[in-house]
Amino acid sequence: MSKKVNINYNNLNFELDLVKGSENEIGIDISSLRNNANLITLDPGFKNTGSCKSSITFLDGEKGILRYRGYSIEDLANKANFLEVAYLLIFGELPNKKQLHDFSNDIKERAIIDEDLRIILNSYPRSAHPMGVLSSLTSGLVAFDPSAVNIDDEDDMYDAILNLLAKIPVLVAWVYRRRQGLPLEYGDINLGYVENLAKMMFQRPNKKYIQNDTIVSALNKLLILHADHEQNCSTSTVRIVGSSYAGLFASVSAGISALWGRLHGGANQAVLEMLEKIQNDGGDTKKFMSKAKDKSDPFRLMGFGHRVYKNFDPRAKIIKVAAHEVLKDLGIDDPVLDIAKALEKEALEDNYFVERKLYPNVDFYSGIIYKALEIPNEMFTVMFALGRLPGWIAHWREMRMNKEPIGRPRQIYIGENPRDYISLTKR
Ligand code: SDX
Repeated sequence: MSKKVNINYNNLNFELDLVKGSENEIGIDISSLRNNANLITLDPGFKNTGSCKSSITFLDGEKGILRYRGYSIEDLANKANFLEVAYLLIFGELPNKKQLHDFSNDIKERAIIDEDLRIILNSYPRSAHPMGVLSSLTSGLVAFDPSAVNIDDEDDMYDAILNLLAKIPVLVAWVYRRRQGLPLEYGDINLGYVENLAKMMFQRPNKKYIQNDTIVSALNKLLILHADHEQNCSTSTVRIVGSSYAGLFASVSAGISALWGRLHGGANQAVLEMLEKIQNDGGDTKKFMSKAKDKSDPFRLMGFGHRVYKNFDPRAKIIKVAAHEVLKDLGIDDPVLDIAKALEKEALEDNYFVERKLYPNVDFYSGIIYKALEIPNEMFTVMFALGRLPGWIAHWREMRMNKEPIGRPRQIYIGENPRDYISLTKR
């Protein structure tokens, strides 16, 4: 393979280096382009632009492949637990027994929220969208842990990472409980990470909490499937915010806000609302398929299509099977699942979707499981954020360890040319 590409411009010839990744992706290194040729590139949405080199996650959108640090998402979703996967994403290797034990204990030691942050949470209207509350509380954590603002050494970084992994599940559970007017309680420090999340979310003050292993297993799988996805919108946000040397909490808070959008993580809530709308409208999936194809109609089939996957999203395949299993185990017959399956079948047979390579993505079936776990629609993206937390942390840590420069894209200016000021009396 040649190591360079040539650009001929203005009768000049410029050579640019080619970069080859460990999975044979090829990129043109344009870092010298502006200095040498006074040229920049333009790529709205960065669909053709790599922002960094990363060792964390590999995905192949054409082949529907997703791997965290080389391990397939299928293996991890079916064999690992979420804390193992968090350790793998952040530190690069699956932990051995002692490493996992120490990691888990270090997190448990920090799984306490300052009572003043509880007061801040209680000051929000119960109707406030949980993603807005979670984003602000995540940023607010730094008020109680100022050392997380300027993280300059690996010990500080490890401490900040543990604090986030420890406190976010508590905040997620409390945001969920706050909306229902339930007391904001801790779980049981002797439980596993996901087991304790389930207890904090689902325990009720008036009855003995009994763990439902189906629910814990479903949550574990969903959190793993959402844990990372290379340079998606919210992860790129975390990296660029962190590149200014903003702290980890502030960077992740920005990532939560980016994930909230319905074109991104907010799609899981939008999918359930769409499916329930179809159900309430009599279940006529063909009518909504037509709307999705009608360019004059802003309606899109939520949970379909992807910036990168132009084949099946491997996560959607796993979640589809899990959705069926969870509903069967919980003895739930939810017609919304049937509507989802009918919609998927129709879309996969429809030319409009086939030509545009629009397949179900991670968000299409996840909401059906969350609904079966009695998690309200508005909380779906919060669950996505908890799953994505280790991925955001891993990318922030990689960006900092690699001492990457502050992110600052260029632009092509298309505004007014120079003009003189006109006094108010003459305007
Ligand atoms: C996530 O990036 C990641 O990795 C994200 C994520 C992660 O793990 O972090 O995977 C999580 O965000 C999943 C995506 C969730 N979003 C949705 O489900 C929202 C619905 N999907 C679409 O909005 C859309 O597919 C996007 C935003 C996901 C992708 O948009 P693209 O790649 O920019 O596609 P596009 O807008 O260029 O569309 C190409 C064509 C267009 O039609 P034409 O102009 O060619 O005629 O496909 C059409 C679009 O109108 N199209 C859809 C559609 N998605 C694309 N038409 C109907 N329904 C849809 N869902």
